[in-house]
Amino acid sequence: MTQMERVEALRPRNFGASYDWDELVQEDRVHHLLYTDAAIFDAEMRHIFGGTWVYLAHESQIPNVDDYVTAKLGLRPLIMTRDSDGIIRALYNRCTHRGTTLCRFEKGNKRSFQCPYHGWNFLNNGKLRGVPWAEGYGENLTRDPKFNLAQVPRVESYRGFIFGTLNASAPPIGEHLGPIRKPIDEWLDRNPGGKVVVCEANRIKYKGNWKLAYDNSGDGYHVLYSHRSLLETENRFVDENTEKGMSYYRTAPDEQPMYMQYMGNGHHFKDKRPNLQPRNGGLWAIESLHPGMEHVEQKLRRQFGDRADALLDLAGSEPVNINVFPNLSLLGNHIQVFQPVSFEETDTIWYGTRIEDVDGTIGADALNDINTLRMRTQEGFPNFGEVDDVTNFEQIQRGLRCQEDEWIYMNRGLGIPGRIHTLEDGTIKAPATDEMFMREYIKEWKRLMKAEPQLTIRREP
Ligand code: FES
Ligand SMILES: [Fe+2]
Repeated sequence: MTQMERVEALRPRNFGASYDWDELVQEDRVHHLLYTDAAIFDAEMRHIFGGTWVYLAHESQIPNVDDYVTAKLGLRPLIMTRDSDGIIRALYNRCTHRGTTLCRFEKGNKRSFQCPYHGWNFLNNGKLRGVPWAEGYGENLTRDPKFNLAQVPRVESYRGFIFGTLNASAPPIGEHLGPIRKPIDEWLDRNPGGKVVVCEANRIKYKGNWKLAYDNSGDGYHVLYSHRSLLETENRFVDENTEKGMSYYRTAPDEQPMYMQYMGNGHHFKDKRPNLQPRNGGLWAIESLHPGMEHVEQKLRRQFGDRADALLDLAGSEPVNINVFPNLSLLGNHIQVFQPVSFEETDTIWYGTRIEDVDGTIGADALNDINTLRMRTQEGFPNFGEVDDVTNFEQIQRGLRCQEDEWIYMNRGLGIPGRIHTLEDGTIKAPATDEMFMREYIKEWKRLMKAEPQLTIRREP
């Protein structure tokens, strides 16, 4: 048994003995330790960000052979490469010599990576290619696989979204995603060729636990209160019969046709599309305006007449929140990634997406206009709404320092006959403001924290 195996063998027992998971996670409430305890955070980096599938990157970020982008699996820095044979790999961004991060850039195209410390050189499949002044070693290092970079043993894609896990016994990614695949498919299929290309990102850091973002990702209860100024801004310059942005939360949101659905394995889905007018242009009609967008809209209308509404819908932010546990959210035109940093610090990254004119029916000029508008939608919620949310997250983290006041409640919708429905496929539906999805995903969190996953890495032979 190796030292690491001995530590691992002890860790779950010692760790589990300190915590009563069933007391910490109850039907209607959770304990503040889930958000404030550094040891629980450390364990999450193994049990959650290691023990289950985690979103790492999008295939469109590494479209060509030798492309790479850096990413993270929990706290583990990674280099996502499309190696010289076209294979997508998640290499540990950790030199096998003395452990420094090998690649210090965000993205690029490289056949090999040279360590900035002593110059060891690794191919983009992880193999050690050579070391400076090799005669100073008593063996040929490139012949021993232990000097090849470690890599995430299981890397699988679902329609361009790349996930990885260290857990050899996790089910295939498609099975793990299960019913949440349907809204992902729909989010993609409304675009030409059923795909998006990931663009640059807004990055927002907050001083709070990563779960605060996931708790909020389907929260329909806060919108009217936390995002009041955004709603007012969006609706300021339109007539009273037009409702922009998230206006459907303004009156009786639980009586609206939108709903919340828990999809299993921690994933959940807020579907606000039933609130749209069912016509071409119905999606664009609720898109909030930012200065200058109207000129692009008018140009498309002049150019395409009746067809313009359908094209403008390609630029509109789809009113869904598709949340894939533990770190991925698809909303509007954006891909949001939650990146834990410590028990009280998180990075959120909002990638814009553009579409391609796959079958040549849009034309380069109009495509450029549509993608321009899609980028401008990035100025809406990610800039004016996310700041409201992260303020709440930071204020929660601060409030939780009142350690003796132990509980956080997520009981909205609980115990009301006929309010929550379990469907035939096992998914659960509730009105838009229910906290049902929090209660359900945190049960999955508890299951993973109680489990003892066998985490593995692999190296090229
Ligand atoms: S730490 Fe990378 S070459 Fe020494
Ligand atoms: Fe919000």
